[in-house]
Amino acid sequence: MAGKINLNPVVPPLPRNEDKKKVDVRYMLISPYASAHIYWNKKVNELVYELEEPILTKEEEEVLERVESAMLELINVNVAIEKTLEATTNYIDKTARLLIDELNIGVSSESYDKIFYYLFRDFIGLNEIDPLLRDYFIEDIECNGIDTPLFIVHRMYRNLRTNLIFNDFDKLASFIEKLAQRTGRYVSYAQPLLDGTLPDGSRVNATYTKDVSSRGPTFTIRKFTKVPWTPTQLISMNTLSPEMLAYFWILLDNKANILVTGSTSSGKTTLLNALAFFIPPEARVVSIEDTREINLPRENWLPSVARTSVGVGKIGEVDLFEILKSSFRQNPDYLIVGEVRGKEAFVLFQGMASGHTSISTMHSDSVDTLIRRLQTPPIDLSPTLVNSLDCVVVTTHAVAKKQETRKVREIVEIVNVNKDGTALVNTPFKWDPAKDVFYSKKQSKVFEKISTRTGTPIEKLYKDLATRAKLLYELYKRKIFGFDEVGWIINEFHKNPVGVLNKFNIAE
Ligand SMILES: Nc1ncnc2c1ncn2[C@@H]1O[C@H](COP(=O)(O)OP(=O)(O)OP(=O)(O)O)[C@@H](O)[C@H]1O
Ligand SMILES: [Mg+2]
Repeated sequence: MAGKINLNPVVPPLPRNEDKKKVDVRYMLISPYASAHIYWNKKVNELVYELEEPILTKEEEEVLERVESAMLELINVNVAIEKTLEATTNYIDKTARLLIDELNIGVSSESYDKIFYYLFRDFIGLNEIDPLLRDYFIEDIECNGIDTPLFIVHRMYRNLRTNLIFNDFDKLASFIEKLAQRTGRYVSYAQPLLDGTLPDGSRVNATYTKDVSSRGPTFTIRKFTKVPWTPTQLISMNTLSPEMLAYFWILLDNKANILVTGSTSSGKTTLLNALAFFIPPEARVVSIEDTREINLPRENWLPSVARTSVGVGKIGEVDLFEILKSSFRQNPDYLIVGEVRGKEAFVLFQGMASGHTSISTMHSDSVDTLIRRLQTPPIDLSPTLVNSLDCVVVTTHAVAKKQETRKVREIVEIVNVNKDGTALVNTPFKWDPAKDVFYSKKQSKVFEKISTRTGTPIEKLYKDLATRAKLLYELYKRKIFGFDEVGWIINEFHKNPVGVLNKFNIAE
């Protein structure tokens, strides 16, 4: 990309301080020029979010202004943003250099980089809001008019005042016009309400007013966050049986390690997210992904994304590896890894071996292939490390009743990985494609392990399995599918199982 701009710096794991007064974090949004600084501001006695951008000298500011106005005359921004980001960026870069040449202004390369950042931000991006839109942690951005700071909702630190403020009525109004244009809509004083979607999926609501007695135009941007499918939704799609889900529930309650495998687009990530609903509510969870897909119904959760620049391949792998290493310093009870691909597998399996529970996905077409891939380069784990894995779930594409669906083909327990790398397995659940039914064997080696380790009688585990399967089936029958509702019931069950069972009329 032109200049030194990196739009995808690594998202750091942020500390969740109990004491807000101790918060003081800084992370890159558009590297190396724009960063977020969140800290306790003693003057206002609250946590604040400050956008930090390059400071321009008077001369640099003048150059920026001249180039900007010359450029405005030259280009049609509408046309410019329809091309690819890269092409547009290069175009801005070329044009800016040309103009600087023509206007005969001498600019050092350091100054030029800073100036280019602002050109990029204002021509391609959404002005000073642009770095905020690129902040992984921001859920909402809110502007209540002129002369009042913008507020954001931060995933980790919730409502924060920012240092961004529109002081000028016309500037804010033209920003709303820009938002409208980016959503492909039109606002005017006759049609002052904007309700649209930005290209990245974020929702925009805005009011466009010329009533000077009010605070002026307002806008809210609700950033795109994926709402994943819940366990009961997966039951409704017949992806797996309530009993299979109950089995995972018990495994996760008892700190078993689960890996979801399957071919491309077989529903691994979707299942992974649904399984994460069963992680005990009080546990500390860290999730690691390349692209943001996972979303959990819980408070105690630290998401991190290893952002990879498109087309750079290997670098992404290193990022995931680094993040995984630093994640263990966060001391999670449960670790969710979006997709295991390379050498980060080693860190993950070591983590499992030392008592950190993990759930993850990995691409492969069968358990045999998976076990082999884990033990050959580039992953190259020892049989002992592979043994830390308790259970592998295989997902698959299937056409049932002429409908394209996803199925859990089998649940395979790793009983033991031999010295020669072969694995002794047990298969408690299996899908029969001919009849489209799930068979269960009622004998789980992982339950035996759990029973030995925790002292819970094995009969109790099977009884719990049956009860929880009944509960999940009942929720499905009552069409309780919502993310928050299902999340709440499952979390509540951890605290007050009898209460929840009574509520849904389920006998133990
Ligand atoms: N249980 C399911 N029933 C029906 N459709 C599903 C199910 N799970 C996932 N899908 C659909 O299949 C697609 C792929 O799902 P998902 O991203 O979970 O698969 P994946 O195996 O993780 O893919 P990838 O190989 O890209 O990581 C999605 O579009 C999703 O809507
Ligand atoms: Mg996936």
